[in-house]
Amino acid sequence: MTAVEVATLDELVEGEALGIEIPGSEIEVALVRIGEEVFAITDECSHGKVRLSEGDVEVEQCRIECHLHGSRFDLRTGQALNLPATEPVPVYPTVIDGERILVDIDNPINNQEN
Ligand code: FES
Repeated sequence: MTAVEVATLDELVEGEALGIEIPGSEIEVALVRIGEEVFAITDECSHGKVRLSEGDVEVEQCRIECHLHGSRFDLRTGQALNLPATEPVPVYPTVIDGERILVDIDNPINNQEN
């Protein structure tokens, strides 16, 4: 497992996405804090080349909405929940170590069950 430190908890506002590039990789993710959990979803919609981090987070449903056409993605699985997107977006496991947030870039979850 390659866990890369990407941010600290105090950089995240609950319910808002923070778009970052993971250091040492070309992977861009939207980090989302909900309660004591942090999710890392690839920062590109599967329907078009727009950043998911610019969309709204739906905290209670644990999902993020693409701002362009309104598809929603489950932050836990990356699954597309409504059209027009049909393909999932990879999500990465995260580890919270004190204040540090680490992302496991070797083990993306890419849920193909739509
Ligand atoms: S670009 Fe995201 S739903 Fe179309």
